[in-house]
Amino acid sequence: MKIKIRVPSTTANLGPGFDVFGAALSLYNEFESEYVPNARKTSFILDGEGEKLLPKGEENLVWQSMLETFKVLEEDKYNLKNLNIRIKTGIPLNGGLGSSASAIVGGIALANVLCGKELDKSQIADLAVKIEGHPDNVAPAVFGGLCACSKDGDGDHGIVLHLPIPKLKVVLCIPSFELRTKHARQILPESIGLKDVVFNISRVAMLTAAFCRGDYSLLKQGMQDKVHQLYRGKMIPAMDEVFEAAISAGAYGAFLSGSGPALAAFCKEEDGLNVQKAMVKRWEKENISIKSHILDFD
Ligand code: HSE
Repeated sequence: MKIKIRVPSTTANLGPGFDVFGAALSLYNEFESEYVPNARKTSFILDGEGEKLLPKGEENLVWQSMLETFKVLEEDKYNLKNLNIRIKTGIPLNGGLGSSASAIVGGIALANVLCGKELDKSQIADLAVKIEGHPDNVAPAVFGGLCACSKDGDGDHGIVLHLPIPKLKVVLCIPSFELRTKHARQILPESIGLKDVVFNISRVAMLTAAFCRGDYSLLKQGMQDKVHQLYRGKMIPAMDEVFEAAISAGAYGAFLSGSGPALAAFCKEEDGLNVQKAMVKRWEKENISIKSHILDFD
């Protein structure tokens, strides 16, 4: 039996909602797995963006997540280690679009189906957060839509609030350079001053009101942030200028996608092309080559 699973890309933080807000987008990775009774070991076929970059073996995050799931489900009783695994990556690696979350969720979901679907979505999200560490990519990757997450301790994915999916397009500009989430988290300060905390709380309130009321005019201010973009922006040439270009071309708001380096903007469908062109044009002035997409919420 061949199992096929598709997991969406995700954009996290949405400006001020560091480790809290995340949305699923219409760019996907596909994962397949097939049990081969006579095979001696598991083999991997890689397609797409990750073909030459992803490891084929123990270090592969999809496989690690499958093994973790087998452990939880006491897979010994299933003896499922002889598999063909195919990973087709449509989500750029290390771009800030949740490629790791997609691999983790894909691996857990494959293993779960192989073991008879013992885990429900909530348990899949718990295990995925345990592996990834933060919830704002894996929650929308599992549940879809626009999520606000809270995770206070270890061991579960916390509470996930589902917000109305905005009737907007998401413009994404992905530069040719990479930024690893691990590094982008290490450069953040251990503590944030009270003024900046108050600033961010007010923006999160605006952001939530914008989504719940469908009043997207609040997004420009509601996507401002002083918790992570302030620090990560130093590694991203002309980040603020690209945001300004997006807003001038009609976007409601713009932000660093996850830990970056991709930059994103929310806009009306009819403004999508103009916003995309303006962002790319401004960023290319820094001699950076860029891939861009106009995506939907998933
Ligand atoms: N909230 C995470 C971070 C998202 O900003 O580090 C990573 O995609």
